[in-house]
Amino acid sequence: MKTLLVYYSHYGHTYNVALAFQEALSKLGTVDTYELEYQKPRQGLLKRAFYRLYPDLVRLAPVPLDLKGYDILCLGVPVWGGRPSAPVTKYLHLCKNIDNKIIICFFVYGMEVSAVTCFDFVNKLVKRKGHPLVVPVYVPWEKAQQEEFVVKAITTALEKVSIPPLALK
Ligand SMILES: Cc1cc2nc3c(=O)[nH]c(=O)nc-3n(C[C@H](O)[C@H](O)[C@H](O)COP(=O)(O)O)c2cc1C
Repeated sequence: MKTLLVYYSHYGHTYNVALAFQEALSKLGTVDTYELEYQKPRQGLLKRAFYRLYPDLVRLAPVPLDLKGYDILCLGVPVWGGRPSAPVTKYLHLCKNIDNKIIICFFVYGMEVSAVTCFDFVNKLVKRKGHPLVVPVYVPWEKAQQEEFVVKAITTALEKVSIPPLALK
């Protein structure tokens, strides 16, 4: 199985979870990992809030957009104002050939209700691109470094897409 793992992380929590996914998914095959970045890195809070409202204006640093040749898209999403952080939304708008892929989205969040709203948003966006199913994984930011919690969340998600834990050993 070939995975494209794409995430954004400003404060590092989503990055921690991405590392755990990378380790788990690499037991199934190749994992190509990319951190989404603004073309001009380290945008301030105000700029990031602006882009949260207008994600289409984000200019992303180069990242693979075509999922042809991948089996799994694993997307790391920091929740910001009940939506994905702007680079993730922009990525979802731009990416191609996501139909027939397994899509796993991990949401790193402060408030669960907000993470679920964020999932609904992502799910609708992905459906418009022709993919019916997104498997969500929810990780409260304060648990992003708790290995046991994260591994359990990942194992549960992979079981949902019919990847048994045995395959990960
Ligand atoms: C300005 C700001 C807005 C946030 N808004 C939300 C929110 O609406 N819902 C939520 O669940 N978490 C929210 N959070 C918490 C982030 O989702 C959490 O800090 C996450 O870990 C950030 O990911 P990162 O560490 O990878 O950058 C917010 C955090 C910040 C700093």
